[in-house]
Amino acid sequence: MTPPFEQLLDRLTTASYTSIGFPCAVDIDYRPLAPLLGVLLNNVGDPWTDGIHPMHAKGIERDVLGYFAELFRAPPGWTGYVTSGGTEGNHYGLWLGRTRLPNAIAYHSDAAHYSVAKAEHLLGLPGITVATLPTGEINYADLQRQASRWRSRPAIVTANIGTTMTEAVDDVHRIHEALDEAGVTHRYVHSDAALAGVPLALTADRPAFDLADGADSISISGHKFFGTPLICGVALARRGPSDTPAAIRYIGAPDASISGSRTGLGVVMLAHALDILGTAGLSDRTHRARDIATYTCRRLHHIGWPHWRNPGAFTVMLREPPDAVRTRWRLPSTDGWSHLICMPGVTTRQIDDFVEELSTAVPVQS
Ligand SMILES: Cc1ncc(COP(=O)(O)O)c(C=O)c1O
Repeated sequence: MTPPFEQLLDRLTTASYTSIGFPCAVDIDYRPLAPLLGVLLNNVGDPWTDGIHPMHAKGIERDVLGYFAELFRAPPGWTGYVTSGGTEGNHYGLWLGRTRLPNAIAYHSDAAHYSVAKAEHLLGLPGITVATLPTGEINYADLQRQASRWRSRPAIVTANIGTTMTEAVDDVHRIHEALDEAGVTHRYVHSDAALAGVPLALTADRPAFDLADGADSISISGHKFFGTPLICGVALARRGPSDTPAAIRYIGAPDASISGSRTGLGVVMLAHALDILGTAGLSDRTHRARDIATYTCRRLHHIGWPHWRNPGAFTVMLREPPDAVRTRWRLPSTDGWSHLICMPGVTTRQIDDFVEELSTAVPVQS
């Protein structure tokens, strides 16, 4: 009998070709790291203290964090760690915000990922939802209007750096301007850059979103742009918590993370991707993925299928396809629109097959 994991692998391999509705890159081969599956890698606690337990990859984590700190222009004194994903990164950012501004109101747009409202709830932060523009970008006038009603309270704002549905990017400078206009002096901005943080950091003409642009913290997912087969992410913050926690005797290291025990294998996967690609390689695959998104728009235009795309996005919005096509290609939908995401590794052949199915399902409009 075929072992269950082989059956699973068969199913996943088949599913991957038509899985273009979710943002996971598939172009990096992590299999050279397979020998590490024979050992435990637990980066428990603080990345800067090795601790008692020897089975960690904290030296590699410090290098990985250093790379991202440079990429996201972190000022001296920055902190952070490799997380279990974008969700934990958002939780961590908002936790630091609440620690610094205990009486704050949290603001997020109606296009924010569901993890943001969840983190606010877990932290007991009163949350206010701000309207968005048709592109999915936050409505700065609405932010100003709502923040001015609470001007006596500090503000913690989550900026979306690539929204889940349309890959819209909020501008951190404009968020600060809206808070200035609202008369809010004490504020903290967290950039949820789960998908688009790295590609945008490699783009010359981009909106303001990183730590030099006025964000206090930023988080990304590792399994999206880097396609790590292990779910992980990176979170960075301008400064650490004001009280450095004491070392926990049991682990021999302080712990300012949310998760405590943390993935060492995810750390090595991120290091592997950075190692084999370098900044030039990451930039190359960003441009190639955007070219595939441009190609997709051209193909959709050719068959007369309504579509649009935020500038520089991997995500292409398209009028909702018939159910059979949408289900087969795993496209999420809201309000009559679906999206597909041209992550690194998605090919023109996949797009051609998808568009072919779409055009046979619905006649070409002349
Ligand atoms: C904008 C945004 N933020 C956060 C997340 C959560 O990231 P993760 O799945 O790594 O927890 C996602 C996931 O889709 C996302 O799109």
